[in-house]
Amino acid sequence: TIGKDSVIAPNLTTCHESSELDIHVYCCPPKNGSDLTVFDFRFPDPSNPLRVRRPTHLLDDNYIAKYNEALTIMKSLPYSDPRSFSRQADLHCLYCTGAYYQQNSRTPLNIHRSWLFFPWHRMMLHFHERILGSLIGDDTFALPFWPWDIPEGMLMPEMYLNSSFFDKERDISHFPPTVVDLDYRCSFSESTCPERGLTPDEQVNANLAFMYNQMVSGAKKTELFMGCHYKAGEEGLCDGPGTIETAPHNTLHRWVGSSLNSPAREDMGVFYSAARDPIFYPHHANIDRLWEVWRGFHMDNDITDPDWLDSFFYFYDEKSQFTRVKIRDVLDITKLRYSFEKVDVPWLNARP
Ligand code: C2O
Repeated sequence: TIGKDSVIAPNLTTCHESSELDIHVYCCPPKNGSDLTVFDFRFPDPSNPLRVRRPTHLLDDNYIAKYNEALTIMKSLPYSDPRSFSRQADLHCLYCTGAYYQQNSRTPLNIHRSWLFFPWHRMMLHFHERILGSLIGDDTFALPFWPWDIPEGMLMPEMYLNSSFFDKERDISHFPPTVVDLDYRCSFSESTCPERGLTPDEQVNANLAFMYNQMVSGAKKTELFMGCHYKAGEEGLCDGPGTIETAPHNTLHRWVGSSLNSPAREDMGVFYSAARDPIFYPHHANIDRLWEVWRGFHMDNDITDPDWLDSFFYFYDEKSQFTRVKIRDVLDITKLRYSFEKVDVPWLNARP
């Protein structure tokens, strides 16, 4: 085994059938042909261009065509290829259903509902973005973000209703012009959930006030924003998501997912299938952006606990190299060679 006892890491040989809400799933990588030679993470070359993530409402047709091409190629790759879209989706499934045990115990590893949430999803998106770029030979390619926290972004982005971005497993009553409800109350045990019935203006204002609460007044302490300190083994287990993870993160998963033929509001409404919907990625790019926005307000509050910094996970990069990444590797997005286009955040002045 590698690493200290208190850091979180998966034991790769323990991948097994897992479940979420009594739905049994198997998302382990194929046993044959998976090369498990491990590479340690290395930062992209500092002379690489910055990939600038832009908001979905400001994308031009050229960019959308390029992204569509990359995603179409990714979807056409066979399951045996770790860069394929279905393998990317199952990667999320693996880490969110406890398909791996932790390295020194029989405790299932789960990256939701704790301080693992932000860094793990940042890693997933970083590799996803690098793979998409390499499939079209464009090292400036950046994922877009869906800025549902600002009025311009409070509809399901138009582009995700078309071409390779579409997914039929969504709630069509939430297609535009329905304004998103960032505080959508729809627990994991119910598939049909009440709508608030606000007018579009009322909903936008309710969303802004809600964002103020999740980003500012309700997230003054690091733990409130980042989630509880999940550490290795049985004793380290905790179940306490940060403000943004609870909502809008979880609430929008439920809001996007299908309410018709899917008992758990698949695809987006339940974690094992969430990343099968292409909208998962701009949704998480926005979460990733909000982490940076929050850090901007709390410069001195970065977590310094080595158990968190040294926790690690595995991802395939664009060369299909199986890479071990520590949380400390992903805390500086400039070193990862990406950035976010700045947008104004009116919720900052929306104190209720
Ligand atoms: Cu791992 Cu949005 O979920």
